[in-house]
Amino acid sequence: MLLLRDLAQVASPAGRQAPLRGAELGTVDVIDDAYVLCDGDAIVDVGRMRDLKPIAGDVRELDGRGRCAIPGLVDCHTHPAFGGDRVEEFSLRAGGASYEELHAAGGGILSTVRATRIAGEDGLYAATSRHARWMRRHGTTTFEGKSGYGLDKETELASLRAVRVAGGIPTWLGAHAVPPEFEGDPDAYLDFALAEVLPHAAKVAEAADVFLERGAFDAAQARRYLGACKEAGLALRLHGDQFTEQGAIPLAIELGARSVDHLEATGDDGVRRLAKSEVTGVLLPASALFLDRPMPPARALVAAGAAIALATDFNPGSSFTESLPLVCSLAATQLKVSPAEALSAVTVNAAHVLGRADRIGRLAAGYRADVAILDAPDWRYLAYHLGGDVVVQTLVGGELV
Ligand code: NIG
Ligand code: FE
Repeated sequence: MLLLRDLAQVASPAGRQAPLRGAELGTVDVIDDAYVLCDGDAIVDVGRMRDLKPIAGDVRELDGRGRCAIPGLVDCHTHPAFGGDRVEEFSLRAGGASYEELHAAGGGILSTVRATRIAGEDGLYAATSRHARWMRRHGTTTFEGKSGYGLDKETELASLRAVRVAGGIPTWLGAHAVPPEFEGDPDAYLDFALAEVLPHAAKVAEAADVFLERGAFDAAQARRYLGACKEAGLALRLHGDQFTEQGAIPLAIELGARSVDHLEATGDDGVRRLAKSEVTGVLLPASALFLDRPMPPARALVAAGAAIALATDFNPGSSFTESLPLVCSLAATQLKVSPAEALSAVTVNAAHVLGRADRIGRLAAGYRADVAILDAPDWRYLAYHLGGDVVVQTLVGGELV
């Protein structure tokens, strides 16, 4: 057994249900002077130090004085399987070039496709594992990882395996961009991807994702791709409303997708429709910041009753950050999402997007012993300590990593 003792605070989203919406999104249980008791990979008890009963058997203790425990963070949207980097492009953007211009000129996503195809399976494994270590250092205990920088059979499947080996949950982003060998013919590319890659991808991935955007795939193509993926047993995700509204929200609702992600361009009608649906809106404020784009309408979504999650969108081009604490800071400062709402959005609601809210995302008996320990006297330093090293220890399944 492992006892985290004398913690200044333990904070966890209240209740047991998922996803959390409206007022419930911001309801966090906080216990001062607290402990968390784990048995193997599970949490067995959480409470106040003064109520701690003697524990029979072998117990390892971890001193929590001056620290807080929150649920291990869940990053439900990342792109960790890539070769190379985009530091050159980043510098050009700093000089005024736009992300969409660079993409249209064959840079952007397609430059990472070139680097990923030549990385080789070992190189891809090494890169993805390195990115997973970066995430863990910032308190992430579960992450989803997308393919989408291979766009050929071999590299897409190697990407999905690399995410799995690195400990992530793979999503097949087979419709991320149209690769050079199918330039100008997205439908022919989808013919190939659905016939040649999907049957294999469906055995490794849990979900499928598409980039529905001008310059990538349109709504009809996204419907066809996702429909085939659903038939193959995959859960559905969409990159939608990043730059322009192209019908991502209605399509996500029509197909019963788990989430629609980005939403920087979502208008009032989209907000209303999403709020009435079972689809979670995944907000990626680090990506909006990195590209100097408008922030998503988070407050309007929460007020209308939508389920929202927050994620990093970790990738080399539009969001080179692995830090969910930074995302929580951006949520508080840019999205006017409270620290309590942000905590639910990076734990319970993110776990819901990954179909795991019954096992992860809370510090309560019966949940997996995934814990982020903060070097802070108040758990809200998670969002308050902007760009700080707020996470000092991470526990995954009861093991310190
Ligand atoms: O979520 N929007 C499309 N895909 C990624 C960016 C990929 C890239 O720029 O390499 C995103 O932002
Ligand atoms: Fe993304």
